[in-house]
Amino acid sequence: MSIGSLARLDPAQETFTLGVCYYPEHWPRDRWAGYAKRMRVAGLTYVRIAEFAWSRMEPEAGRYEWDWLDEAVETLHAEGLRVVLCTPTATPPAWLVRAHPEILPVDAEGRTREFGSRKHYDHASPVYREQSRRITREIAGRYGEHPAVVGWQTDNEFGCHDTTRSYGPATQVAFREWLARRYGSLDVLNDAWGAVFWSQEYTAWDQILPPNLTVTEPNPSHVLDFSRYASDMVAEFQAEQVAILRELSPGRWVTHNFMIFFSDFDHYRVAEGLDFVAWDNYPTGMLDRSDQSDEVKIRFARTGEPDLIGFNHDLYRGLLRDEDGTGRAFWVMEQQCGQVNWTPSNPLPAKGAVAVWTAQAYAHGASTVSYFRWRAATMAQELMHSGLIRHDETDDRGMAEVATLELPGRANVPTRTPVALLHDYESLWAYDSQPHGEGASYWGQVLQYYVALRSLGIDVDIVHPDRDLSPYRLVVAPALHLMSPERVALLATVAHHARVVFGPRTAYRTPTGRVHEDGAPGPLRDLAGWSLMNVDGLRPGLTQRAGGHEVTVWAECYRPGDGAEVLVTYDDGPMASAAAIVRKGNVTTIGSWSPTLISSVLRDICAEIGIETTDLPRGVRVSRRGGLTTAVNFTAEAVTLPSGHALGPVSYLQW
Ligand code: GAL
Repeated sequence: MSIGSLARLDPAQETFTLGVCYYPEHWPRDRWAGYAKRMRVAGLTYVRIAEFAWSRMEPEAGRYEWDWLDEAVETLHAEGLRVVLCTPTATPPAWLVRAHPEILPVDAEGRTREFGSRKHYDHASPVYREQSRRITREIAGRYGEHPAVVGWQTDNEFGCHDTTRSYGPATQVAFREWLARRYGSLDVLNDAWGAVFWSQEYTAWDQILPPNLTVTEPNPSHVLDFSRYASDMVAEFQAEQVAILRELSPGRWVTHNFMIFFSDFDHYRVAEGLDFVAWDNYPTGMLDRSDQSDEVKIRFARTGEPDLIGFNHDLYRGLLRDEDGTGRAFWVMEQQCGQVNWTPSNPLPAKGAVAVWTAQAYAHGASTVSYFRWRAATMAQELMHSGLIRHDETDDRGMAEVATLELPGRANVPTRTPVALLHDYESLWAYDSQPHGEGASYWGQVLQYYVALRSLGIDVDIVHPDRDLSPYRLVVAPALHLMSPERVALLATVAHHARVVFGPRTAYRTPTGRVHEDGAPGPLRDLAGWSLMNVDGLRPGLTQRAGGHEVTVWAECYRPGDGAEVLVTYDDGPMASAAAIVRKGNVTTIGSWSPTLISSVLRDICAEIGIETTDLPRGVRVSRRGGLTTAVNFTAEAVTLPSGHALGPVSYLQW
């Protein structure tokens, strides 16, 4: 699938378009025609509907009511709007839950999570799987070939509200089956988990439970496999829906709306089988929920922070790739267009922010941006959330920006860059199960490298480490925590033609989460040119220096191997004069958390291999898509770029 083949499915995908998320079931029918007309006049192309409407589609078991949805689809169609329909499985209705309470998820404390909000189901429940297939078949059978329906979204935000992992009876059975398929025998499993430690060895499959409610921390290999298992359940759950949609809705595309920095399942795996990826972009909420400093949270409270957003764009562009290897154009299915309701404080976005977010999405490779939501809800949990139009139906501030955007119609050409940043969810799960240092986290470590590259004005592809890396000249692997001999072989091929940079904690573990018997970096030793000597988890306020740069949170030092050179040593602390940075051939390893040190290493490598860099201040970013350069200014001050281009506060510029 490329944008070319996607455009054959849906010609509107050739150029950049806008859309909106809409809930016709929330409003009287006499409002619908007027809304559809206003959507068209505002320049919107797509309207996503029905992801939470199961109770209206099927008010009681087996009794379907479609007349309202027929009319809603026809009303949008009459204005030439293209409809994105959803499977409504994020919200099983009350009658279904009461008839089948075993579908409800169980939290890590062992409590059943009840009906009354959303996402109240266990992906592994065979009963819920059957219900999911049944309602998908019903809705796809009725609307699959409707001329207005151009594509589908599965469910809504898999994993939202901490629902990827459930710990109830359905999970216990499915987890054991999953383990038996993976390991074949308990001997193999016991060895993979190092279960001899603390007498954790199993002698029958039904002794194994999910890794919750243990007295102290559970075995990290058990936790790692439970993360893999739960991820596979999400993938299987979705794949069943996708198969039905393919059968009953030929020629339509299928996507899913993923979330910001969401970690609980392997997004590469769950994206398999979709036509393209979508994600939900809430910049101010994302910043407030992040572990950025208060200073940054206040400074960017009304715009969000551009690298947090850019990282997610680049991540989701990279989940699926076109035949030529470029990251596939993606959608922002839900774009914040005013205030959200789900952070402790919910500031009003700055004037211009909605336009800047939309331009940034285009620049990072989005083919469509769809705003959340049409009219602000006058009911229930989200009545404090904004929309394009207010409760009283007047245009809200975001609408004014959307209706005057000059972006629709830009060509949806691919983005290309010679720089890849490697990311995988298994490394994330293993890293975060034992951070070993206050403030140390997988995303935190990865972001240091991403921010360093973006502040040098460099476009970044985020790529799974086991994908084809031949197009890249610089491959940055900030936290490749799990290392297998197969992965080493791929990296060795890359290092023939590209410069490779590893961060701390690289190759610390085997794929089952143990440490290599010859210590880190195990099979990577020859390629990387070092052996790990010591690690140092630094509490807040405790610092060291390396090559004159301040090091916080994490430091590790290396014994250089044959053919390796030490580029930087620690200046002080218990590792004084030991290697902090080692280079062997094309491979450089940085052992310290230090943004300035990372930036200086990357800058030097770019200069050596002829990748142009420009110094950009925080909040100001430049990206290229095809022949078009987009600069965004997320700050409240006017800026002039090194290129001479001037931008006003909270604005964008394209040339
Ligand atoms: C998203 C979700 C929407 C809505 C929105 C509010 O995470 O998909 O249904 O709840 O947040 O910001």
